Amino acid sequence: MAIKITLLGSTGSIGRQTLEVVDEFPELFKVEALAAGSNIRLLAEQARKYRPSYLVIDSAHRIAKLQELLSGIKPTVLTGIEGMKEVAALPEVDLVLTAVVGAVGIEPTLAAINAGKRVALANKETLVAAGSIIMPAALRNNVKIIPVDSEHSAIFQCLQGVSPGDVERLVLTASGGPFRGYRPEDLEKVTLEQALNHPNWDMGGKITIDSATMFNKGLEIIEAHWLFGLEFDRIDVVIHPESIIHSLVVLADGSHLAQMGLCDMRLPIQYALTYPKHLPNSFPKLDLLKGAQLNFQPVDSKLFPAIELAYQAGRFGGSLPAALNAANEEAVKTFLKGKIRFVDIIRVVSEVVARYHRESFAAAPDLEEILAVDSWARLQANEIIEQGRKFLGGI
Ligand SMILES: NC(=O)c1ccc[n+]([C@@H]2O[C@H](COP(=O)([O-])OP(=O)(O)OC[C@H]3O[C@@H](n4cnc5c(N)ncnc54)[C@H](OP(=O)(O)O)[C@@H]3O)[C@@H](O)[C@H]2O)c1
Repeated sequence: MAIKITLLGSTGSIGRQTLEVVDEFPELFKVEALAAGSNIRLLAEQARKYRPSYLVIDSAHRIAKLQELLSGIKPTVLTGIEGMKEVAALPEVDLVLTAVVGAVGIEPTLAAINAGKRVALANKETLVAAGSIIMPAALRNNVKIIPVDSEHSAIFQCLQGVSPGDVERLVLTASGGPFRGYRPEDLEKVTLEQALNHPNWDMGGKITIDSATMFNKGLEIIEAHWLFGLEFDRIDVVIHPESIIHSLVVLADGSHLAQMGLCDMRLPIQYALTYPKHLPNSFPKLDLLKGAQLNFQPVDSKLFPAIELAYQAGRFGGSLPAALNAANEEAVKTFLKGKIRFVDIIRVVSEVVARYHRESFAAAPDLEEILAVDSWARLQANEIIEQGRKFLGGI
């Protein structure tokens, strides 16, 4: 019988590639529900092709236009986070793939877990902000969270058949983004266009900017901590410009297990959908004889302070990672609109972190507290951006 899927974030980069994987295995999957934000044109096109029973969009004011675009098909249309929670928990659904961007994924992911669904997780911000809620909920409900992020998928694949006690460390690889090799002062003048020009991966806007600041790797360190249960001192980052090795597991005896492949997100998406099987597909394959190079360098922490900031937030724990993530989301959103400079992103986030330490937030936050801190950090970030002249050196 076909595996019934709810796909959250179907109009994004991961969402679209997930549907390409579905196209590759039409007998294996049935799309039950698609959720998106504002791109109703693409959502309607997807709905006409996959005929899901449910659609979710971010706001009720788009329903009439969406229905017009559906040209006669009549799925149930829901809205907002409540709508995503509902389609994540549908009794008929087997698997929920969360590919929305940002902390908006927390509650729908939790709804899927509480309903006992298998979860394929691309939305790293959910684990960064709420790993302390998500992972215990998964354990309670006997739910497997299969990572979609290529680094975490690589580690997850390497760990198959390995005893947890034999794992010494995890090594996340990073391309270093478009600004690898720059001097810190060179970053002062980089443009939005340069920051969006990732050397190896074609991704959504937010993660592309996160890759340029290397906040992406910082978020991935926290994500790896929650997914694989290792302390932060046992999670390393190494620059690997070719992005052929997607990450490694180092075992107690010194053995290094690596997963390799092309920079094609359809591979980790497929594995998350078909786990534990590696099914044959028609996607292009890595050819080691076609000039494949494996080079490694340490991270330049002066150029990329976001990584150390993320380690610190992860080690501090509580709701600080939620604040860090929310501040980064707001700063990146503003940078993508061309309203602050690239270097302002880290300044905004650092200032929100400094303000966080002046408050007294709960050491062991529940979901409500995490969501409240998320909102608090967004307000702070936007206030700092507004007061830019003071903190950001004039914008
Ligand atoms: N892209 C990659 O290669 C990649 C790799 C690893 C991990 N990831 C992670 O996967 C997630 C998605 O990344 P992406 O690159 O696919 O992002 P993206 O291209 O920007 O797509 C984001 C998706 O989320 C939807 N969305 C945004 N805000 C929403 C809201 N308030 N309510 C409902 N839906 C909303 C968007 O809908 P509309 O466009 O319709 O507004 C879109 O479908 C991120 O957490 C990212 O870190 C991505």
